[in-house]
Amino acid sequence: ALISLRQLLDHAAEHGYGVPAFNVNNLEQVQAIMEAAAETRSPVILQASAGARKYAGETFLAHLVTAAIEAYPDIPVCMHQDHGASPAVCVQAIRLGFSSVMMDGSLLEDQKTPSSYEYNVEVTRKVSEIAHSVGVSVEGELGCLGSLETGQAGKEDGVGAEGTLDHSMLLTDPDQAKDFVDQTGVDALAIAIGTSHGAYKFSRKPTGDILAIDRVKAIHAKIPNTHLVMHGSSSVPQELLEEIRQFGGEMKETYGVPVEEIQTAIKYGVRKVNIDTDIRLAMTAAIRRFLAENPSKFDPREYLKPARAAAKAICVARYQAFGCTGMA
Ligand code: G3H
Ligand code: 13P
Ligand code: NA
Ligand code: ZN
Repeated sequence: ALISLRQLLDHAAEHGYGVPAFNVNNLEQVQAIMEAAAETRSPVILQASAGARKYAGETFLAHLVTAAIEAYPDIPVCMHQDHGASPAVCVQAIRLGFSSVMMDGSLLEDQKTPSSYEYNVEVTRKVSEIAHSVGVSVEGELGCLGSLETGQAGKEDGVGAEGTLDHSMLLTDPDQAKDFVDQTGVDALAIAIGTSHGAYKFSRKPTGDILAIDRVKAIHAKIPNTHLVMHGSSSVPQELLEEIRQFGGEMKETYGVPVEEIQTAIKYGVRKVNIDTDIRLAMTAAIRRFLAENPSKFDPREYLKPARAAAKAICVARYQAFGCTGMA
């Protein structure tokens, strides 16, 4: 059944778990996530980014999610719009049947230029008013995603701020978070703690100076009734990088957000954990391996099958690690 983000994360808070929010762009990804959720009895957040809407078209995306709900009637599914660039984008998503929208007012509508605090409050409050009047949940973002090592947004997937970010933007301020939530009424708040989108997050296994998990605790203490969201939360498994390299791919040395750090963040109040890159890596590794080992095959179903299985395995592992098992 379709469920709002608020309902889903209230349950997660009550029972002390976190929910992975997986980005979806096509049929195989939706199927992989639903198979993993059904197998582990986990609740589901399927989210569509601006890039996904551009790739698949929003009608196809919306209907893929509807198909997932129909095929798995007893699994709760939240259909979330990731990184809405403007109130207009959020309203379009609501009209298409999304049960949750993110208004990312941390950046201007170009989703490249960091915005003023006042702008962020204004656009996010506007979306909350509209969305809440029709039972749709809202995620806002305060602070800019980016590396505490380099000040860069890590936007190799085309998402994120341009140029070098001020250190003060890279860590969400707990007092400002409280003011932001009071003024906007968001259900969930994405915070900046040193993570960034894409595969290239950290140049070494992250420690507290470049991945500020403690900040989660401080923010949660100020806004205990707002669910915290971690973006850029792929773990970038070294074995997937290795497999991609082994079969002809080029991946530079890089480190993601360790699963144990996410588990700590969940203890401190994180309820939604955004993951896109890990599924991309898993599918690419499987496809590269299959095609290298089976050079005469050309039916897409033959290489998409192991890709879907690899995506499912990542989803199962995250559902288990974040405490979702048996919660649906
Ligand atoms: O928001 C970030 C996600 O990784 C989506 O990236 O716009 O390339 O689909 P995308
Ligand atoms: P990753 O690139 O770490 O998977 O993050 C995805 C994300 O935050 C989508 O909003
Ligand atoms: Na989001
Ligand atoms: Zn994100």
